[in-house]
Amino acid sequence: MRLPGSLWRNIHGRGVPSRYLANMAANRPCHVTVLGEEYPTDHMTNISPTIVSKLPLKLHTQPSHPLSTLRALIESHFPSYAHLSSLSPLVTPYQNFDLLSFPADHPGRSVTDSYYVNKDLMLRTHTSAHEVEVFGRGETKWLLTADVYRRDEIDGSHYPVFHQTEGARIVSANSAGMKEIEEDNERLAAHLERSSIEIEDVPHLSPMNPCQPAHDPKHTELIAKNLKLSLNSLMLHLFGGRVGATAQNPLKVRWIEATFPWTTPSFEVEVFFRGKWLEILGCGVIYQPTLDNANVSDKLGWAFGLGLERIAMVLYSIPDIRLFWSQDPRFLSQFKQGEITTFKPYSKYPACFKDVSFWLPEGQTLHENDFCDLVRDIAGDVVEDVKLASLIDDFTHPKTNRKSLCYRINYRSMDSRSLSNDEANSLNTQVVSCLRDRFRVVIR
Ligand code: PHE
Repeated sequence: MRLPGSLWRNIHGRGVPSRYLANMAANRPCHVTVLGEEYPTDHMTNISPTIVSKLPLKLHTQPSHPLSTLRALIESHFPSYAHLSSLSPLVTPYQNFDLLSFPADHPGRSVTDSYYVNKDLMLRTHTSAHEVEVFGRGETKWLLTADVYRRDEIDGSHYPVFHQTEGARIVSANSAGMKEIEEDNERLAAHLERSSIEIEDVPHLSPMNPCQPAHDPKHTELIAKNLKLSLNSLMLHLFGGRVGATAQNPLKVRWIEATFPWTTPSFEVEVFFRGKWLEILGCGVIYQPTLDNANVSDKLGWAFGLGLERIAMVLYSIPDIRLFWSQDPRFLSQFKQGEITTFKPYSKYPACFKDVSFWLPEGQTLHENDFCDLVRDIAGDVVEDVKLASLIDDFTHPKTNRKSLCYRINYRSMDSRSLSNDEANSLNTQVVSCLRDRFRVVIR
């Protein structure tokens, strides 16, 4: 199952057929304006008007917005850390991937998974894109909250823009640094000891989750322990009060081994909340080449990255991820900065399903994310989900070798007013004509 914030969901990044690129090129203007600046386009450009319109909004800084309260709640748990939240979403692929040791063929780099302004500039896909820059500025303990962008399908828990908080701590790789960590570990362990929390742990190091060659395993053990204690206490801070954790019914947190190109050992953290294990964050001991890239080779430490929407959806009982973008006063006026309250649904208009069936030109494919971006550009947040109706129709004609596809689009307004069937039809007609123009499909 895909969840907002999880790393590289579309791990099977597919190749992009040249015919498809040729079609895109024919429709491409030579410049795009992003955050008030003009940029030249090229064969990689795939940033869409809907996405461009989200860039200035920064929901995590809008007072009273649930994402802003959650950001502040996390920051309040790390009072001695620098709190950053205004870095531009435009980064180079070098910052987003190469400085973090992503392999050259990593699927996250593909135009079907990430948004590119052009081949040299993209929208960050995660807040880790700023690690090298922030460490390079001399920050040793910091949090950074920002909007991140990943091309995605459309449903109630996925949106191509979401928010992450990155946190990191580095210390000198000497006895003074290790002493600082040991003292902090004692303090945190004593705090957790007194709290109602049950932790399912994994070893700090294992053959599949090894120590780095540049590190003394004793140092890594201390750093990994500090990472785990710091994040267990953050989980208690975020969820403990809300699940009413007691000695009989403690907050349950579990650690799982993971892999990220820029950390080892690496872990994921899940929290048991309202009957389900919820994937909360990824983290690990920072890979030394990352710190070398930031000119802080004499330090070592940990980093984590956590998705805000998923946590806010459960803490506030917000059922649909589109609601975070709502400007409806019936949504916004429900919330106060610093307070976590249960969202009261104010409308559920009827769904309006429309099927779009078409033939692709011979040998051409259409990535679902391309279809979804096209639908979003026309219908905006009025589209609730898009499903490949494969049971209805998804086959290749044995004689003509043309592929036939059918998507079922669910149009439903989440606020303001009900959507009439005529309006849904008109949106759907625009989807169909755009699909024809852009991908030269034959509607069935
Ligand atoms: N950036 C990772 C993500 O997008 C999370 C992460 C951050 C993992 C820092 C390790 C260290 O999910």
